[in-house]
Amino acid sequence: MKTVISLVALTATLALGASVPKIEQLPFGQADGKPVSLYLLKNAAGMEVTITNYGGTVTSIKVPDRNKALGNVALGFDNVAPYVATTSYFGALIGRYGNRIGKGEFQLDGKVYNIHPNEGSNVLHGGPVGFNKRIWDAKDVSTDKAPALELHYVSPDGEMGFPGKLDVTVRYTLDAKNGLEIEYSATTDKPTVLNLTNHTYFNLAGAGSDTVLKHRLTIKADHFTPIDSGLIPTGVVQAVAGTPFDFRKGNVIGSRINEVNDQLKLGKGYDHNFVLNEPRTLKDWAVRVEDPSSGRVMEVYTDQPAVQFYTGNFLDGSAVGVGGPFKFRSAICLETQHYPDSPNHPNFPSAVLRPGERYHSVTIYRFSTEQ
Ligand code: GLA
Repeated sequence: MKTVISLVALTATLALGASVPKIEQLPFGQADGKPVSLYLLKNAAGMEVTITNYGGTVTSIKVPDRNKALGNVALGFDNVAPYVATTSYFGALIGRYGNRIGKGEFQLDGKVYNIHPNEGSNVLHGGPVGFNKRIWDAKDVSTDKAPALELHYVSPDGEMGFPGKLDVTVRYTLDAKNGLEIEYSATTDKPTVLNLTNHTYFNLAGAGSDTVLKHRLTIKADHFTPIDSGLIPTGVVQAVAGTPFDFRKGNVIGSRINEVNDQLKLGKGYDHNFVLNEPRTLKDWAVRVEDPSSGRVMEVYTDQPAVQFYTGNFLDGSAVGVGGPFKFRSAICLETQHYPDSPNHPNFPSAVLRPGERYHSVTIYRFSTEQ
């Protein structure tokens, strides 16, 4: 009898132990003279995500294909050194300001701010040392339902020229339905501008595959914001109807990318901000990507007003990561965001954050398959 009870107890403990998600912490090398880690999140469905606290970077996302074979769909590297060297933002958290600020200059409450430029006179993704190059504090905040990693960074007042001491928390949660949720929160002690996003490059056929041009994409966006030769929005909000930017009914990405079109020429392909239709809710996807070869599907849910759809036009094969060289147009980014250069366009939704307010935003990348 005693043996039976203890066996029951042991089985119960094991079962309980198995159901409590935990994160595995592994060494990932040294950056800025400090050791950084890789955190492995796994769910019961077999999906695996790795994240490093260097740049809050997602380094791999392993999801099943239609035959249940696990494959990595996020471009990345197996140690921190290439992340320190790269200027392509692979998988990284982006801040303080996602995408571009024209001439690195804007006015807020009548004061002019100059941000350190890193693309000619313009600022891209927060300047030369953005959040993607910072070491974040990491904490395992897994619950009994899902593994979760919380990252924290305090950006000092004036960092890269941005006003206000900014306290930022980003929580990555891997849910039971193969969703990777990214929850961003921040507070400031002075009025500032803020636009946080994640810069994962996806190839649903597997990172390192040649091209992403056969993926089929749907974006629920009636409008996009055209760019100038520096990829800065002109300020116009243009209807997608009748243009190669109309993805509302679903289109193969490569079907119109080489059309003669001023905007495609300026972007060297797609590298544009799509204005997501209202209502924006986390209950329904805003973007859907399907890869016919693997059967993998990714849906993007967000509360953000827009998404940058970028076809990896600056990738040239020189970065060699897990899966091989990352070639021209071998991945897409879907960076949920406020519009680029909003601080200089009063007609765009405001990206201003003031003391006493809390920046809060959620984006979910959810994976599934279809036959
Ligand atoms: C963003 C930009 C692109 C490019 C990449 C990084 O997606 O919109 O123009 O700069 O980042 O290479």
